[in-house]
Amino acid sequence: MTEQANPAKAQKIQKINGVRGMNDLLPADAAQWTHLEHVLRDLTRAYGYEFLRTPIVEATAVFQRGIGEVTDIVEKEMYSFEDRLNGEQLTLRPEGTAAVVRAVVENNLLYEGPKRLWYTGPMFRHERPQRGRYRQFHQFGIEAMGFAGPDIDAEIILMGQRLWDELGLKGVRLEINSLGQAPERAEHRAALVTYFEKSKDQLDEDSQRRLLTNPLRILDSKNPAMQELIEGAPKLLDFLGEESLKHFEAVQTLLKANNIPCKINPRLVRGLDYYNLTVFEWITEELGAQGTIAGGGRYDPLIERMGGKAAPACGWAMGMERVLELMKVSGSLPEAPAQCDAFVIHQGGETLTSAMIIAERLRNAGIDAILFCPPDGQAASFKSQMKKADASGAAYAVIIGPDELAKNEAQLKDLRSTGEQKAVALDSVVEAVIDAIVGATE
Ligand code: HAM
Repeated sequence: MTEQANPAKAQKIQKINGVRGMNDLLPADAAQWTHLEHVLRDLTRAYGYEFLRTPIVEATAVFQRGIGEVTDIVEKEMYSFEDRLNGEQLTLRPEGTAAVVRAVVENNLLYEGPKRLWYTGPMFRHERPQRGRYRQFHQFGIEAMGFAGPDIDAEIILMGQRLWDELGLKGVRLEINSLGQAPERAEHRAALVTYFEKSKDQLDEDSQRRLLTNPLRILDSKNPAMQELIEGAPKLLDFLGEESLKHFEAVQTLLKANNIPCKINPRLVRGLDYYNLTVFEWITEELGAQGTIAGGGRYDPLIERMGGKAAPACGWAMGMERVLELMKVSGSLPEAPAQCDAFVIHQGGETLTSAMIIAERLRNAGIDAILFCPPDGQAASFKSQMKKADASGAAYAVIIGPDELAKNEAQLKDLRSTGEQKAVALDSVVEAVIDAIVGATE
């Protein structure tokens, strides 16, 4: 029988699921995100960073030019589409840096001098979803623009370390490298090509392709069969000139002076093409394969490449989901705070009117209040409302039944510590709740 001929079957409406790799943030996790966001706001304020928000959608060229055509992100991970209303080529941002640089150049933000900027929000990459790797994920990032010296490289790394300490993250290590300048990389690249060409048959398909396009990225390969070959490859650090080495050493000296341990990883090249000199990543073994919680570095060529007046810059970004997961593993996620201060209970009719007025008065006084609203529109028993009050996490219940209303009173019940209940005049409910809250915190 067709669905049309079977009305009972036709009535069953299919639910529509979210997009694979793009997750809902559910109420149970909201407090953790809010906590993290607060810590991040405090951190950025402590170091003089200003907030900036760019759109989620940019012209595709921003990322093609910014991140580089020959990168995994641009080659295969971008959500790009044509706006069918005007034919524009657009992309859901896969990262923040190129977009922030676009905004800085467009709005001439460096006109008055260097800027320290931060941002947060969703990013989109079409990767294979797994633990810690999503198609929509959230980044927090900082970008310091207009500063050339190694001091700012060290400062942004100190910021990261302070953040991990503040969040109680355990087992995070810092790896650092220098990518030098373009002519140094060109020399190294030539040496790499010669080296890998000799053993071309040992390269996997991806690396054979990269040999022609971006041989540095071969060093990034995780393919176990190629590790020995990669170990023996010419190291970029050996091609760095005096200036680049001086910068790299100065960063390390400043980190050491601030007791920040780091490991030099000559194979750390990062997956985006805008970097020069210092690059770094924070890595943990606690999260399985997706253990990089944050990464960044210096990207002096980018502002000019995006059409701005040449200016040095550096920054880093972290994956919020990965950091929250590591907080969970480290046992440092805070307890969810109580949802509200007061839960207001009534019996419908006139008691509802009074209860609604009292709830508004409580909110006027800065006290969070939930007013009981029966799901079926009918008044519910006190008992079932008290259960709801308890489950809401509220510290106090304000009870207004017909008996209370007749006496112009409400009952105030302590739900968390003492369980005490007392009558208070309706006009004094707000003061009574404030007194109770103050008393409980003393
Ligand atoms: P990135 O290394 O591509 O750098 O990303 C930064 C962080 O975002 C990663 O370390 C990781 O924690 C998180 N992340 C990346 N992809 C995913 C994903 N699919 N799912 C979950 N988390 C992910 C950048 O994006 C640069 N813009 C960083 C930067 C800022 N460099 C200079 N300034």
